[in-house]
Amino acid sequence: MNSLENGYTALVIGASGGIGSAFVDHLRADRHCARVIGLHRRSDPPIDITDEPSIAAAAAWLRDTAPTVHLALDATGALSLDDRRPEKRLAELDPQIMARQFAVNATGPALLLKHFGPLLPRRQRGIFATLSARVGSIEDNRHGGWMSYRASKAALNQIVRTAAIEMRWRQPHAVCVALQPGTVDTRLSAPWYSGDGSDLLTPAESTRRLLQVLDDLDTAASGGLYDHLGERIPG
Ligand SMILES: NC(=O)c1ccc[n+]([C@@H]2O[C@H](COP(=O)([O-])OP(=O)(O)OC[C@H]3O[C@@H](n4cnc5c(N)ncnc54)[C@H](OP(=O)(O)O)[C@@H]3O)[C@@H](O)[C@H]2O)c1
Repeated sequence: MNSLENGYTALVIGASGGIGSAFVDHLRADRHCARVIGLHRRSDPPIDITDEPSIAAAAAWLRDTAPTVHLALDATGALSLDDRRPEKRLAELDPQIMARQFAVNATGPALLLKHFGPLLPRRQRGIFATLSARVGSIEDNRHGGWMSYRASKAALNQIVRTAAIEMRWRQPHAVCVALQPGTVDTRLSAPWYSGDGSDLLTPAESTRRLLQVLDDLDTAASGGLYDHLGERIPG
């Protein structure tokens, strides 16, 4: 990343996932990046985004280890839970599954912002980015379906926008955005993908593009949802 100070520190949460692990690989290969910390449910310290004490403990550990984080990437998320397919119709809606979708895709990232956001620099550029999805865009919703996932990602987009506004006061050089990675070949998408492969990105290509997009975004972009080509997606 050229827009961050030389020797920057990067944090990837959800480093065990398809997209998260590809972020870690790119950042480890970046000679400007001095340190890459990858956290996930089985890392040391572990982090479960549905368990606030685990997030607080990981943030406290990080404050001791690397007090300033220049780039924080949240690559957690879930489309299906307990092998239940995402709903196609209202008749399939299960309030418990819906609540859990919100816990993983919206409340969890909000808690990451709460605990890790303060570690971004106050006087220099810092970036917090979370993986959202185009299907969270209300304006873009033409096909319906996947109500819980869509709604939880829409909530996430609103959370990012709200956090970005608050961050402006404390960390005026911070960029806080949501990202749409494209359709990426991971264990999240694989069971539901029905295309011919022509629109499918590898995690390596998606994350290469996303890091370039983040490098190019300025503070005026903070609060928005951007795709892997740098296009802003309406909320
Ligand atoms: N793949 C796509 O086509 C696509 C498209 C649009 C948006 N996205 C978004 O991109 C993000 C990453 O997805 P992916 O494709 O890389 O999926 P993935 O390979 O399944 O990775 C998901 C990650 O989320 C973690 N996670 C799930 N629940 C968690 C929890 N309670 N606490 C902590 N970590 C948790 C998983 O940890 P474990 O390893 O412990 O399970 C894993 O690290 C998601 O937000 C997804 O919605 C993906």
